[in-house]
Amino acid sequence: MKLGVVGLGAMGAGIAQLAVEAGFETVGREVTDELGEAARERIGHFLTRKVDKGQIEAFDLGLLALTTDVSDLADCDVVIEAIVEELPAKQELFRQLEAVCRADAVLATNTSALSVTEIAGAVATPERVVGMHFFNPAPLMPLVEIVRAERSSDEAFDAAYALAEKLGKHPIRCHDTPGFVVNRVLIPLLNDCIRVLDEARVTPEDLDAGMKHGAGWPMGPCELVDLVGIDVHVHASEALWEKLREPRMAPPARLVAMANAGLLGRKSGHGFYSY
Ligand code: 3HC
Repeated sequence: MKLGVVGLGAMGAGIAQLAVEAGFETVGREVTDELGEAARERIGHFLTRKVDKGQIEAFDLGLLALTTDVSDLADCDVVIEAIVEELPAKQELFRQLEAVCRADAVLATNTSALSVTEIAGAVATPERVVGMHFFNPAPLMPLVEIVRAERSSDEAFDAAYALAEKLGKHPIRCHDTPGFVVNRVLIPLLNDCIRVLDEARVTPEDLDAGMKHGAGWPMGPCELVDLVGIDVHVHASEALWEKLREPRMAPPARLVAMANAGLLGRKSGHGFYSY
């Protein structure tokens, strides 16, 4: 099994980390050498921590080859795309992947906000396109949604499911609907939480304590939005709102203002909390 990962940001690097940990030859593609190196360093850091903690015996970072050239993904069995959440960019990438990859290679997208069917619509062989939606942080969250687009083949769908299992994940099967399964529920729920901040005049600390200690959440909603990225959450909310037109899906004004102000959560150092 040779896996390709395109885009080595938080999600792509997490997926590449899982692949290295599973012992797969992995090709990671970024737009610059520097971004690729930063991802490799991050992966090495987390895997070394796992060794130090006795969670794994060893790992071979040599399994990860970095490239800036899509044609280096030519002999991958599966390629997982985790680039920017913009439809034209993803469609263009899938066209490039279709041109270079073997005819039997599965092309998967980690999109959370876009339609897998629309991404697949850009290529001549949409049957090999599926969704593999990992959750943040990908190495720690067990779930992967395996998303069947309108024209996905059984072979591609089953191969993606089997791959998720080999990566040590708990896959679930679903169809290509806005938000798939978890985000369809989680995004409006998180938006409700943020609106409650103003309605109930509760602090982020107390809201987080409320959901952790009163509802058993592993982390509070403000901590979670900071982890996901406020810009990413706003973008995903807007996509759901655009498709479903349910008011709860629309991003709360407070989050839009934070995103516009550059308060993006953990990745920018400031969100509801400072890091
Ligand atoms: N790889 C490996 N280890 C990692 C890591 C990574 N990428 N990132 C962090 N870790 C390590 C940490 O370094 C830490 O180890 P160390 O401190 O000993 O070095 C270890 O993982 C555990 O960290 P924590 O003590 O913070 O672990 P917790 O037990 O508190 O669990 C959690 C952390 C799993 C994130 C838990 O808080 C949780 O489940 N939170 C909810 C997350 C969630 O809901 N995610 C989904 C978001 S929605 C989404 O992704 C959809 C998208 O489409 C928007």
